[in-house]
Amino acid sequence: MSFHIRKANETDKPTLLEIVRSWGADFIVSRGRKVYPSEIDAFLALTESDKLVGLVTYEITGDQCEIVTLDAFEKYSGIGTSLIDHVIETIRPLGVQRLWLIATNDNIDAIRFYQKRQFRLSKVHKDAVVESRKIKPSIPEIGMYGIPLRDEIEFERLL
Ligand SMILES: CC(C)(COP(=O)(O)OP(=O)(O)OC[C@H]1O[C@@H](n2cnc3c(N)ncnc32)[C@H](O)[C@@H]1OP(=O)(O)O)[C@@H](O)C(=O)NCCC(=O)NCCS
Repeated sequence: MSFHIRKANETDKPTLLEIVRSWGADFIVSRGRKVYPSEIDAFLALTESDKLVGLVTYEITGDQCEIVTLDAFEKYSGIGTSLIDHVIETIRPLGVQRLWLIATNDNIDAIRFYQKRQFRLSKVHKDAVVESRKIKPSIPEIGMYGIPLRDEIEFERLL
């Protein structure tokens, strides 16, 4: 599938908000903190007919950057890889030295995906999802592959 990537702008915000709300609220919880993905930097992957097929949102704090969300709406076409590459190309010249993210313990596909893209497992935050659920009750008890959803796994890629 052919797609291109561009930076999200103000006019994309309603679309991004709609996507984020479809995950249960207008925020996600990462490391016990509410983050509003439609309000932060983002890249979109679009087909020639402008169909949205991927989205990455990220937040720079000092010399660190968190990938807050990464989604390929059409899988296995290189969209996820390309979105990550665009974030790195953007943040490297800004002096960012560490790109990090949280994947939940059930997300086996993401755990494979990131490790094959130069990310290292840096921490396990045991029962962090149990805490997140207090802030966002729509987080299910059972995640992907029927795995109990409990822990946050932190990945990092040093730039
Ligand atoms: C993780 C995610 C972003 C990857 O995006 P993607 O566009 O599918 O990724 P790519 O196409 O660049 O790479 C996909 C991988 O799947 C492989 N693949 C291709 N066909 C496949 C198939 N039928 N079944 C399984 N894997 C397949 C590709 O070879 C590649 O393999 P590799 O990781 O072993 O190198 C995507 O799976 C996703 O949106 N997941 C749901 C949201 C999510 O979990 N996000 C991360 C939260 S931290």
